[in-house]
Amino acid sequence: MAYVQRLMNHGKKSAGGGASPIVHKNHYFCKINIIDMTQDELFKVLVAHCKEYGFIFPSSEIYDGLAAVYDYGQMGVELKNNIKRYWWDAMTRLNENIVGIDSCVFMHPKTWVASGHVAAFNDPLIDNKDSKKRYRADNLIEDYLAKIEEKIEKEVTKGRKRFGDSFDEAQFRATNPNVLREQTKYDGVHNRYLAAQQANDFKEYKQIILDCDIADPISGTKNWTDVRQFNLMFSTQISNTGEADDKIYLRPETAQGIFVDYLNVQKTGRMKIPFGIAQIGKAFRNEIVARQFIFRMREFEQMEMEFFCRPGTEMEWFNFWKEKRMAWHVNLGMGAENYRFHDHEKLAHYANAATDIEFNFPFGFKELEGIHSRTDFDLGNHQKLSGKKIQYFDPETGESYVPYCVETSIGLDRMFLTVLSHAYRVEELEGGESRVVLSIPAPLAPVKVAVLPLLNKDGLPEVAQKIMDELKYDFACQYDPKDSIGKRYRRQDAAGTPFCVTIDHETLRDNCVTIRERDTMDQTRVPIAELSSLIDKEVNMNNLLRKL
Ligand code: GAP
Repeated sequence: MAYVQRLMNHGKKSAGGGASPIVHKNHYFCKINIIDMTQDELFKVLVAHCKEYGFIFPSSEIYDGLAAVYDYGQMGVELKNNIKRYWWDAMTRLNENIVGIDSCVFMHPKTWVASGHVAAFNDPLIDNKDSKKRYRADNLIEDYLAKIEEKIEKEVTKGRKRFGDSFDEAQFRATNPNVLREQTKYDGVHNRYLAAQQANDFKEYKQIILDCDIADPISGTKNWTDVRQFNLMFSTQISNTGEADDKIYLRPETAQGIFVDYLNVQKTGRMKIPFGIAQIGKAFRNEIVARQFIFRMREFEQMEMEFFCRPGTEMEWFNFWKEKRMAWHVNLGMGAENYRFHDHEKLAHYANAATDIEFNFPFGFKELEGIHSRTDFDLGNHQKLSGKKIQYFDPETGESYVPYCVETSIGLDRMFLTVLSHAYRVEELEGGESRVVLSIPAPLAPVKVAVLPLLNKDGLPEVAQKIMDELKYDFACQYDPKDSIGKRYRRQDAAGTPFCVTIDHETLRDNCVTIRERDTMDQTRVPIAELSSLIDKEVNMNNLLRKL
């Protein structure tokens, strides 16, 4: 996260300090120093902050919690719902040819045979015999490769500093002995890893781990077991006879609900290809490595869209959705430099092209969303296994075919983590004070306006309550009469509330209030009658959607 020092337009007048009935801005300046933290520290602090402010709790915490399972609290659920709405409306309302569904977690067991999950939804796991901890073998190798990449980038950064404007990066990479040494190491391991992935060669995974001297981060030893396959699907029984035939799975992705409902939606919605079906819902995976807060959970939510198209046009749509999805992310204003595409080198069994949108999380660039060209793999297999004809008659070509499909799939919880980790800041203010602020994009903020009577007496609560009763129909509001006004501002900053409205004694005379803006701390005196439109301009989700 950036270490920046900047001047901000910061109003110093406290609430109650001005009685002008017209909109008026203060123009005092104050230095705000955004305190630097290591990425690790930021992550720990963020987890604690999420609990303290009611965003996320460990599930069943009174029983010491459950690994990789989390509950969303009173603030978290609002933020989550706003993210859902931003995605849902961008997909379904803004695209006439995309409709939504809500299919079930439980599906016929054959679904997961057709999709390939029964045979191939496996992770390669390895245990350290000393720490008794379990890891994904592929992650251990990928982390090792990422560290070599980091070393190379550090050398390049040093070179850039040393040579200034005359720096020729390509030449530096081709000639610097340190870079060359690391690059050769990287290429050697990377090529072996790719070959092992293609061949599903678990012996070679282990050999790479041993050859690279990869140690368990906890025990520090290299005392590893062999690498084994581990199916990630949870299963349960649909009736209570306990027969093997009763076994069903908790869906590991929402996508299959869309594929098995394809015919129903296409026919009843009279959908013409190309068209899409969107869905938001829970998915379940028995993740081996479950130590990354809500980044990797055992129960999580996905927002997936399957876009059906004519065979042969899928690459065009793949590129179209790559750009569209990146634009959706960047539109939130969290810095285009914090996103990048990562094209897959090893394609999943169902894909003929795939890329990830990665975000710069506190623990580095990691997958946030996947975009896959899934060919006719899913519909074709469901057609085979169900015996039902899943074909589209294309009036333009006069042909019938199994449609091809491009998928966009984003984890809602990962998106939540993206927003929070980017929003969290500690700022040093004038006079040695500091504040924690969550600069959540205003349309996503859980609470949009806090209504604060300066004192909890003298008729101020009554006016505040009246304002609250008016605003609550348009915005998520919070009424907070307790503690000093400064404390209340800090509380709302830390919860990410974009606006505080303060009612003081002057309000009783001039019908004006002080509105304070979260990020700049600007305070403005405005007539009560103008409050709603002022707030709406900043927090209305439609303004965000219009920019897409
Ligand atoms: N239908 C395709 C599919 O499920 P995926 O790459 O396995 O593809 C898509 O998952 C997205 O779901 C990921 O990019 C990630 O955001 C999210 N996701 C996957 N596993 C997750 C987990 N265990 N916890 C939280 N989010 C997860």
